[in-house]
Amino acid sequence: MRVVLVVVTLVAVLLAGCSDASEGKYGEDLFGTTCAHCHGSDLAGGVGPPLGAGSGAASLTDEQIAGVIDVGPGAMPSFASRLTDEQVESLIDYLRERQGS
Ligand code: HEC
Repeated sequence: MRVVLVVVTLVAVLLAGCSDASEGKYGEDLFGTTCAHCHGSDLAGGVGPPLGAGSGAASLTDEQIAGVIDVGPGAMPSFASRLTDEQVESLIDYLRERQGS
């Protein structure tokens, strides 16, 4: 039984490590569950400003976007205690992909 648990855990860790292709998908899914209700699943904005190509977010550096996600300016909540550095990175990768840069 213990062996099975170890194997299951290993597979989960390997899957979480994963390839570039599924990483993009991970960022997209995370954006969908965490950010899209305010910024729109198409990044066109809503409660929050648009984040896609030509938006203010497109002209921010990765560090600045990470800072925004961390701090949560204005009406945006802070995600510092809810997202890991890796998750924030995946979100930024996803935004960059959609912004075409
Ligand atoms: C509750 C609604 C809400 C959620 C959820 C939310 N945001 Fe925001 N976001 C906002 C608002 C409102 C602003 C504008 C804040 C301000 O500067 O006054 C903003 C600003 C931003 C900006 C800066 C845009 C610019 O033009 O400067 C970025 C980048 C951003 N959000 C990314 C995200 C990401 C990534 C997530 C998911 C982890 C997220 N937001 C979740 C409401 C939200």
